[in-house]
Amino acid sequence: MHASPIRALLLEQIHSEAVERLQSAGVEVTSLDRALDEAELIDAVAGMHLLGVRSKTHVTGRVIEAAPQLLAVGAFCIGTNQIDLHSATEHGVTVFNAPFSNTRSVVELVIAELIALTRRLTEKNELMHGGIWDKSATGAHEVRGRTLGIVGYGNIGTQLSVLAENLGMRVLFYDTADRLALGNARRCETLKELLHDADVVTLHVDGRPENRNIFGAAEFAAMREGSLFLNLSRGFVVDYAALRGAIESGHIAGAAVDVFPVEPKGRGDEFVSELRGLPNVILTPHIGGSTEEAQQDIGQFVANKFLDFVTEGSTSLSVNMPALGLPRRKDTLRLVHLHRNVPGVLARVNGILAEAQVNVEAQLLGTRGDVGYLVTDSVSGTTQAIVNQIRAMPETIRLRVLV
Ligand SMILES: NC(=O)c1ccc[n+]([C@@H]2O[C@H](COP(=O)([O-])OP(=O)(O)OC[C@H]3O[C@@H](n4cnc5c(N)ncnc54)[C@H](O)[C@@H]3O)[C@@H](O)[C@H]2O)c1
Repeated sequence: MHASPIRALLLEQIHSEAVERLQSAGVEVTSLDRALDEAELIDAVAGMHLLGVRSKTHVTGRVIEAAPQLLAVGAFCIGTNQIDLHSATEHGVTVFNAPFSNTRSVVELVIAELIALTRRLTEKNELMHGGIWDKSATGAHEVRGRTLGIVGYGNIGTQLSVLAENLGMRVLFYDTADRLALGNARRCETLKELLHDADVVTLHVDGRPENRNIFGAAEFAAMREGSLFLNLSRGFVVDYAALRGAIESGHIAGAAVDVFPVEPKGRGDEFVSELRGLPNVILTPHIGGSTEEAQQDIGQFVANKFLDFVTEGSTSLSVNMPALGLPRRKDTLRLVHLHRNVPGVLARVNGILAEAQVNVEAQLLGTRGDVGYLVTDSVSGTTQAIVNQIRAMPETIRLRVLV
């Protein structure tokens, strides 16, 4: 590890699991419950090597510039929009997030909602609260034997596919990428084919800009009469005015929506949407991935990323750096060299090492955009003079020595 202790600042009530993991590895942790504004953060981050935030703290270019010793920022959440990634990369700060920790939480909510919609539970529940006993089977179905159409067969789509089959559903999927079908799921060649054959359509596409409004009046019209629609992916992929029309006309029998093109900023703010007040429509405030289990998993995941990065230089699954993970023998000294991605850097580093008769035991180079990441292990001979020489190269952004 580092010669001096590694210090971490964790904000916004990051799960205690993360604090414990870091502390048990010898990291000095300062943990605050709230988000900090830019000026507060600039003061607080002084002397910190690791910074953990959730979605409310903005890690701006000014924050990163003010913290030359900062090695890594962890987004203890999925999104990284709150972090100036360009500035982080420029200053050699590695950024991690937890892209998979809430997959299961989203899938379980989808399962709950598709059963609730198929049984029209929302309406029964509302009537009961109004004192009305409406015992009837009309319009209520089992999900067993029904066909689920999954649009976007990634982390969430595939896990949903497995659980839905276990409930006895038939599964179809459509993905723009070539994805392997799990279990008995059937791949559709076109979205149209899926819409034609599915009783329930659920969206799990990613947030690439081309996905804006991919689902509108034409797609709802192409769905089966009386089918159900769910969107727990991104708000901007669906035209919700068109969904309202399809529900009011009775063509779509129910919907569950968790994500919206514009979402209220804070708890208690008014939620404005054309979907309010519709029958058999479940609206939730972007909570698909919000469970205590997911928070705990995120805490463990990002804390582990921090530790692997500090001790091994591993950038695996980093958001902004070349992804490298090279197993390390205990007796080696590791040079971790982040540099500008221009020709000749590898040759120059190896020239310096060769000149000093240093035998390289293992070496790995990765590049991503403007930066290159070179990990070099040696057993003996790597002196401070060599380190200084590599650090002085004009292409060097940051050089870490792991002993
Ligand atoms: N509601 C929540 O709280 C919550 C929580 C976690 C994730 N999400 C969202 O769920 C979505 C899926 O997450 P994931 O981890 O499974 O993502 P992923 O990247 O693993 O999978 C997305 C899949 O969609 C496919 N795809 C992209 N555009 C497509 C299109 N137009 N048509 C068909 N397929 C398309 C991709 O090829 C990929 O296989 C993301 O948008 C994510 O932001 C929401």
